[in-house]
Amino acid sequence: MTMNHITNPLPASTEGHAGSAFAGLRVAITGGTSGLGMALVRELLDRRAQVAFVARRRDGVERVVRELPGTHGIVGDVSKKEDIHPIAVQILGALGGLDVLINNASDLGPTPLALLADTECEDIERALATNLLGPFRLTKALLGSLAASARDGRRAVVVNISSDAAINAYPFWGAYGASKAALHHLSRIWDEELVPGGVRVLSVDPGDMDTPLHAAAVPDGDRSALKCPEAAARELAGTIASVLLRRIPDSRAKSEETLV
Ligand SMILES: NC(=O)c1ccc[n+]([C@@H]2O[C@H](COP(=O)([O-])OP(=O)(O)OC[C@H]3O[C@@H](n4cnc5c(N)ncnc54)[C@H](OP(=O)(O)O)[C@@H]3O)[C@@H](O)[C@H]2O)c1
Repeated sequence: MTMNHITNPLPASTEGHAGSAFAGLRVAITGGTSGLGMALVRELLDRRAQVAFVARRRDGVERVVRELPGTHGIVGDVSKKEDIHPIAVQILGALGGLDVLINNASDLGPTPLALLADTECEDIERALATNLLGPFRLTKALLGSLAASARDGRRAVVVNISSDAAINAYPFWGAYGASKAALHHLSRIWDEELVPGGVRVLSVDPGDMDTPLHAAAVPDGDRSALKCPEAAARELAGTIASVLLRRIPDSRAKSEETLV
């Protein structure tokens, strides 16, 4: 265990969903201290997965590990190339392998959101580093373990969290939208390439949720119309379970219609 890996043993009495598709599966989630990521940590732990999660701020990681005993918290920044291998090594050290990777951590680009002409190059670089390069590097670093899981018949899945901004050309969302569009296309190509080896790569839009990211993007928005992240986490867990249980066939057309 390194200084950046924080654990809190699971109490013996903890129980979850009986017969869960996730029971015993090893799951890693980036951005696990807030919004959708934290809701996913809770949901998948409840479904009896072994869960490791990553975030940059140590106090947030320690808080979630305290609140959700049994989780493995890792302090790291997915936008930093030098953090990727330490994060991957800690995930594998904590879980002993990997079946499901959820690339959820995200960066909005400039806040307040800005027209592309007013966007600093550093802001778009950070959005791409967090939303595209980070998921690419972390997936690549963990691919051997995911492929080993698939070879063992456990069914490996990578989920890249997308957005409707990946598809729609919303003014002011340029840095975020371009990075999510690239992540979405990367996911489709990687899925094609990895399906034969039994690893699926999904791109999933969770919908508009009441989270700190949404509040930063739309500070004056009507929050009452937004989905709660816990509901989005349940839906996403159901989608992943369908793939794990092979209810969704291995075809690109089907995965796009059903999951994106
Ligand atoms: N909220 C929405 O309406 C909405 C809509 C469509 C799609 N999405 C997508 O859903 C996902 C979750 O969004 P959210 O709204 O739940 O976000 P959020 O509440 O802002 O949470 C972001 C999480 O990511 C972590 N994080 C941020 N940058 C990181 C980095 N470089 N390395 C590691 N961890 C990092 C944050 O912790 P630290 O700050 O401590 O690192 C935090 O745990 C994102 O991919 C987002 O694009 C959201």
